[in-house]
Amino acid sequence: MPTDPKGRDVPGYGRHVFICGHERPEGATRPSCKNRGSLELLTRIKAAAREEGLREIRIQKSGCLDFCENGIACVVYPEGTWYRLQPQLDVGSIVEHLKNGTVDTDLLMNFDD
Ligand code: FES
Repeated sequence: MPTDPKGRDVPGYGRHVFICGHERPEGATRPSCKNRGSLELLTRIKAAAREEGLREIRIQKSGCLDFCENGIACVVYPEGTWYRLQPQLDVGSIVEHLKNGTVDTDLLMNFDD
């Protein structure tokens, strides 16, 4: 039986975050999250989670999540919470979600905005 180099007993994470890092060329018919600053935001969220000492959390860049007009697109599992993030976001509320599952309703991706 293979062993895990990090000593984990089972695969998976307590929470798994995907932030779109897709980029389209200028003039494309749809916007893209990387052009809105998603990768810089991803770096800040990861750093904040690390500072908090959060374990069993995985935060990673994804390809296009197909909600491009509502980006920066971010989804947190297992809840399946979809956020629409701004590049200058104070990342504290996302870290709170990762810590204890508290959803920041102000950041939810709503199509009524
Ligand atoms: S480019 Fe980010 S959701 Fe499509």
